[in-house]
Amino acid sequence: MTTKIRAALVVVALAALLHTAVVVAQTTHVVGDSLGWLVPPGGPIAYATWADTQTFVVGDILVFNFTTGEQDVARVSKEGFDSCNSTNPISLKTTGPANFTLDTVGDYYFIGTMDRHCPLGQKLAIKVIDSSAGPSPPPSPRSPVTYTVGDILGWVVPPLGEVAYSTWAYNKIFIVGDSLVFNFINGTQDVAVVTKEAYDSCNTSSTITVYATSPTTITLTTTGMHYFSSTYELHCGLGQKLAINVIAKSTTPSPSGAATPPSSSVGASPSAGGPTAPPPSSSAPSRIVAGAIALLSIAVAFLH
Ligand SMILES: *[C@@H]1O[C@H](CO)[C@@H](O)[C@H](O)[C@H]1NC(C)=O
Ligand SMILES: *[C@@H]1O[C@H](CO)[C@@H](O)[C@H](O)[C@H]1NC(C)=O
Ligand SMILES: *[C@@H]1O[C@H](CO)[C@@H](O)[C@H](O)[C@H]1NC(C)=O
Ligand SMILES: *[C@@H]1O[C@H](CO)[C@@H](O)[C@H](O)[C@H]1NC(C)=O
Ligand SMILES: *[C@@H]1O[C@H](CO)[C@@H](O)[C@H](O)[C@H]1NC(C)=O
Repeated sequence: MTTKIRAALVVVALAALLHTAVVVAQTTHVVGDSLGWLVPPGGPIAYATWADTQTFVVGDILVFNFTTGEQDVARVSKEGFDSCNSTNPISLKTTGPANFTLDTVGDYYFIGTMDRHCPLGQKLAIKVIDSSAGPSPPPSPRSPVTYTVGDILGWVVPPLGEVAYSTWAYNKIFIVGDSLVFNFINGTQDVAVVTKEAYDSCNTSSTITVYATSPTTITLTTTGMHYFSSTYELHCGLGQKLAINVIAKSTTPSPSGAATPPSSSVGASPSAGGPTAPPPSSSAPSRIVAGAIALLSIAVAFLH
């Protein structure tokens, strides 16, 4: 029973995170991707983070995917967006999923009008540009990347447990010079840089560094495993922990120098970009699953 529930949760989490990870240029944007349109668990930063991953061009369609009766979506002015005032919306859609065609260049603002949905983070601001600017240039080979930890989820106690951040890290390649951005609500989370021992045991009584204000940006300056967690009680045990493997900056191969292998073997290892998060050895799985299920039910109750 518990195993089945756990397997189901893992599948859902993997599907959600893998889906978010694949950002394909297309004209239909499903707001929040698989998260849909709701009060996001990580607060207002969620849809801002999502919007940053998209390019909105005139003619594109926004799809707000929500359950009719539980959510709605209003297009409002900037003032309405800033103050969460939906008194005179430009338009209001109460049936989900709801489509908006982005038919002019400019800024668009959307909020949920129900209860306290907007102040709790159900709000989206986007900028729509002209298509005549042409497609954005392809990314250059590999300049430093800034990763938003957890993407739209942010840095929280993940509703589905620690699989959230191991899944997030799974398909990513971290290279010296890249940065991690941790988004969270000040006063409710922090970011602790910890040792492997502290990561494994969730004993964060001694940490390397703690950052308490959001957003926290950490530039990865050394190769090898890097471990992050939280000093808040129980957060680590409930899954707020991240382990990543950072590899060396690859030197641009020059045709004449091809015979000389890089001095550091780390960067050239074929397994360097592989799975980065080993399972913690000393956590009690049943406790984590119980915690995840409890949190999930809290999250579900909170979102409805
Ligand atoms: C909308 O959400 C439902 C339920 O989560 C999902 O089955 C459906 O595929 C989503 N639609 C889109 C367009 O993402
Ligand atoms: C909300 O906006 C309307 C006009 O759009 C305005 O009359 C009203 O005073 C605003 N309410 C608040 C609480 O600011
Ligand atoms: C909303 O847009 C999607 C994607 O273009 C389309 O499949 C769907 O039929 C549209 N729904 C409505 C109600 O127009
Ligand atoms: C946590 O680690 C500190 C030192 O890093 C140690 O003194 C303490 O006993 C540990 N606590 C537990 C509960 O293991
Ligand atoms: C967190 O606090 C810092 C410093 O007080 C502030 O600059 C930052 O904007 C705050 N972040 C959020 C998300 O409130």
